[in-house]
Amino acid sequence: MAAHRYARAYIDLAAFQANLALAKTCAGPRAVYAVVKADAYGHGMAPVAGAATAADGFCVADLDEGLALRAIVPERPIVVLQGAHDRDGFAAARAAGLTLVLHHAEQVQRFLAEAKAGGSGALPWLELDTGMHRLGLGNAALSEAQRALEPIFSGKSITVMTHFARADTPTSALHEVQSTRLAALAGLRRSACNSAALLAGAIQDDHIVRPGIMLYGGASLAGATPAALGLQAVMTLTSRILAVRTVPEGESVGYGAAWTARRISRIATVALGYGDGYPRTMPPGSPVLTSAGRAPLVGRVSMDSLAIDITDLPGVTVGQEVVLWGEGLPVDELAEAQGTIGYELLTRLGPRVPRVLGRRSRG
Ligand SMILES: Cc1ncc(COP(=O)(O)O)c(C=O)c1O
Repeated sequence: MAAHRYARAYIDLAAFQANLALAKTCAGPRAVYAVVKADAYGHGMAPVAGAATAADGFCVADLDEGLALRAIVPERPIVVLQGAHDRDGFAAARAAGLTLVLHHAEQVQRFLAEAKAGGSGALPWLELDTGMHRLGLGNAALSEAQRALEPIFSGKSITVMTHFARADTPTSALHEVQSTRLAALAGLRRSACNSAALLAGAIQDDHIVRPGIMLYGGASLAGATPAALGLQAVMTLTSRILAVRTVPEGESVGYGAAWTARRISRIATVALGYGDGYPRTMPPGSPVLTSAGRAPLVGRVSMDSLAIDITDLPGVTVGQEVVLWGEGLPVDELAEAQGTIGYELLTRLGPRVPRVLGRRSRG
């Protein structure tokens, strides 16, 4: 079925590897754990993890992602950022050799009880809440957890992680507060930096950095484009033109008659819609890249299609490929037009769009 669909997302693994190489350069001697949660930000966890041979380890959000990844990378470190929550989860993590992050006191207690009953498994990470107030232990709870883990993992050095709320703006007061709070923990292995912090050079005393979006070619540093940072788009989302029609002045296009032609217009209907993950709320005028340049979106996005105005783009015809985001049209640019971030567009791309490995060939 997939082979007959017009919509596809090309996944350029060479671009991913180049972005990873850049992350490694920024990280210097620190270990780089590639963040591949949410199906590698919508790109497909299996091919991405398979291509990430230069990564020193991986981070995923939850246990199910960790277990799926373990089947792909049997030997390498996998950190489960939300940890485990019940007996089955702790047992599964132990059996698969997954590194759990412990981020609240009850979870620490649970880990200790399960370790007593079933064996310790891998040395967990502890998360410190330095100011984002999403997940993480307070300082006192962290010290307590450290003391409790010491007899089980004697001689092994615990990694303490934190997550920055404003890494994209490293000069912000909150970022400085979080950095200072983390720096106060002397003598521990640390992991704090995501892409933005890494690109900003805020690597502090990190032993392990955790880049995600930059590996996929997304910019996450305020005011910087991916190209300026030397990043390449990994996903290029394309589809083809299903139909072209001439719409008389005064006639409307699409649901709700939300767009009306102010002149005789050539309108192309593209085979991709919100049922594929292209937001229905994408504002009119948002760009779609055709063979002759950018065309503005007109009217409302339908479930399976959207319409663009190609009046000023002669030569654009039925069957031609268009780019919705990726090469030549950064996902961040489109996301900004819609009031969101590239992360959301990438991770919400639906399963209906086949991921095709390789770089899109034009023509
Ligand atoms: C705890 C944690 N670490 C690292 C990352 C990677 O962040 P980024 O994709 O901005 O590099 C994320 C992503 O949301 C995260 O939640």
